[in-house]
Amino acid sequence: PVGAPDKALAKKVTKVGIIGAGLMASQFALLFVRRLQVPVLITDLDQERVDKGLSYIRDEIGKLEAKGRIDGDQANKLRGLIHGTTDKTEYADCDFVIEAVFEEVGVKQQVFGDIEKIIAPDAILATNTSSLSVEEIGAKLEHPERLVGFHFFNPVAVMPLIEIVKTPATNDAALSTAFVVAKGLGKNAVLTADAPGFVVNRLLAKVMGEAARAVYEGTPLLTVEKAFGPLGLPMTPFQLIDLVGWKVAAHVQDTMAHAFPDRFFASENFHKLAELPEVVEKDKSGRVTGWSKAAEK
Ligand code: CAA
Repeated sequence: PVGAPDKALAKKVTKVGIIGAGLMASQFALLFVRRLQVPVLITDLDQERVDKGLSYIRDEIGKLEAKGRIDGDQANKLRGLIHGTTDKTEYADCDFVIEAVFEEVGVKQQVFGDIEKIIAPDAILATNTSSLSVEEIGAKLEHPERLVGFHFFNPVAVMPLIEIVKTPATNDAALSTAFVVAKGLGKNAVLTADAPGFVVNRLLAKVMGEAARAVYEGTPLLTVEKAFGPLGLPMTPFQLIDLVGWKVAAHVQDTMAHAFPDRFFASENFHKLAELPEVVEKDKSGRVTGWSKAAEK
């Protein structure tokens, strides 16, 4: 790929650490264990969250077995390679550690700061941030040269792309490892600048934001969906908002609007749209879901 350094510089990855055990982290764990076939560690703040993540991963492995994608022995092997704990010292022998925690620079700096005290000086750190500055996330690291952006897309198992993000500090070993790992995961990787929203979210934020604004300004949601349909993309704007989750989508909008106030007006409209009772449903956690479903009523 364009900009990828010599793959001979890549560090061999023998154990992967994932910070977090939420849905995104669990999807990563499944993908890593399935494609790289190395031990994968997940951790979270408490055992309940870890157990929830582990149970999701085991269920998904069961589904792969039921679909005939893997046999019973392979399923057992994958289950055996996954380990969950609240004990962060177990990251000590991980060569590649990726975070999937809350989209807040301070939170990401904090978790990497804690992990850096535990891992080897040349272990690679990766952030799955979808739109924050990777350089800022690494600003407090003792070794910022080992940090890369490694941005997955929903659904992680099927979307073929990873955006790899280089900061001015990122060294060739970290970058090369990121490309080799992405290839091992069966993904296509592109190298993007460390700019707000990188490439994909910069484009998607325009589509989702203007769709939200059109509805807020009076166009029925279903009309926006129907008008978009013939463009031939696999999902319409509100199906995408459903898929990534309203809060994540709104967060991306906020980041883009903050970075480019003259070009992204939509975050405010997103929040207003979320308050329209006739087009939204809220689940127990307060997450807004069902935009496109509601539009069909
Ligand atoms: N989670 C996990 N797997 C899923 C899934 C989900 N939500 N939805 C579908 N799949 C899997 C299915 O299980 C199926 O897998 P198998 O072949 O192993 O059975 C496979 O995807 C294809 O599914 P379907 O045939 O049912 O459905 P489809 O052909 O309509 O494809 C889709 C579904 C792949 C999601 C397709 O609609 C698509 O590509 N949508 C666009 C998604 C997109 O743009 N994602 C980017 C979001 S932006 C983002 O993620 C950035 C960010 O930072 C917020």
